[in-house]
Amino acid sequence: MDSTPAFDRLAASYDADFTASPIARYLRAQVHARLEQHFCAGDHVLEFGCGTGEDALYLAQRGVRVTATDASLAMLEAAKAKIGNQPLVTFAQLDLQNLPNSSSDKYNGVFSNFGPLNVLHDWRPLAAWLAQQIKPGGIAAFGVMSPFCLWEMAWHGLHSDLHTATRRLRKKATFQTDKTTIDIYYPTIRRLTRDFAPHFRRIHVRGLGLFLPPSDVYGVIEKRPRLFYTLMTLEKRFAPLSPLALFADHYWVEFQRAA
Ligand SMILES: C[S@@+](CC[C@H](N)C(=O)[O-])C[C@H]1O[C@@H](n2cnc3c(N)ncnc32)[C@H](O)[C@@H]1O
Repeated sequence: MDSTPAFDRLAASYDADFTASPIARYLRAQVHARLEQHFCAGDHVLEFGCGTGEDALYLAQRGVRVTATDASLAMLEAAKAKIGNQPLVTFAQLDLQNLPNSSSDKYNGVFSNFGPLNVLHDWRPLAAWLAQQIKPGGIAAFGVMSPFCLWEMAWHGLHSDLHTATRRLRKKATFQTDKTTIDIYYPTIRRLTRDFAPHFRRIHVRGLGLFLPPSDVYGVIEKRPRLFYTLMTLEKRFAPLSPLALFADHYWVEFQRAA
């Protein structure tokens, strides 16, 4: 199912609604710390689902060349407007559900932040395609919406909304936005690792949003400074622990291409 029109509609307000919020900024900083472990000035990196271009801009400012892609033209336009004439970023439309026929072996790595891979229901074709694009030893790193987000189950369960509380446990969740429907899938870390295994080896996993909530609850927490501080302290302590990653809102998983 084509998810693009729904994201087209979100593009204009995405930064105000999500990127600028303190919780999203903290989580993005954790992702940037991971990206900096792997990519340095002179590298060329592919990004999927770049949205408004926050991560591409961050890497380009550190000398990394980024090919920033998204299925949504409105998101790409928003990213171009933000990034301006930064010569290290080039943009291209790329739909994860319809990968182009090209083989290059030119990228030092690939990444995708805050859930673009969740539009797929089988990650094997993506892994095989990436094996053609990424240099031996290169990195593939993804922020993926987890199937067992404790916050979502507890929050919506306490609000007697069992359907939403358990939506990630179903094979597929369907979101209705205006006239558009998006299908979202929630792979376990094990499933993604298995789908990437023919070409990539998992090297790292951590949680993002274990004690900090999913984005629909950011406002509730950010309005309460003491609670926010407590949750942030717990997040810093526990979210990096790999056994807990599956219970966070997103997990961050890194693979290395076989040499
Ligand atoms: C939650 S946003 C994340 C954006 C950005 N990565 C960030 O960190 O803010 C998900 C992004 O995935 C993109 N997307 C949705 N379906 C896609 C698809 N089939 N192929 C590529 N990108 C897609 C959306 O347009 C949107 O920009």
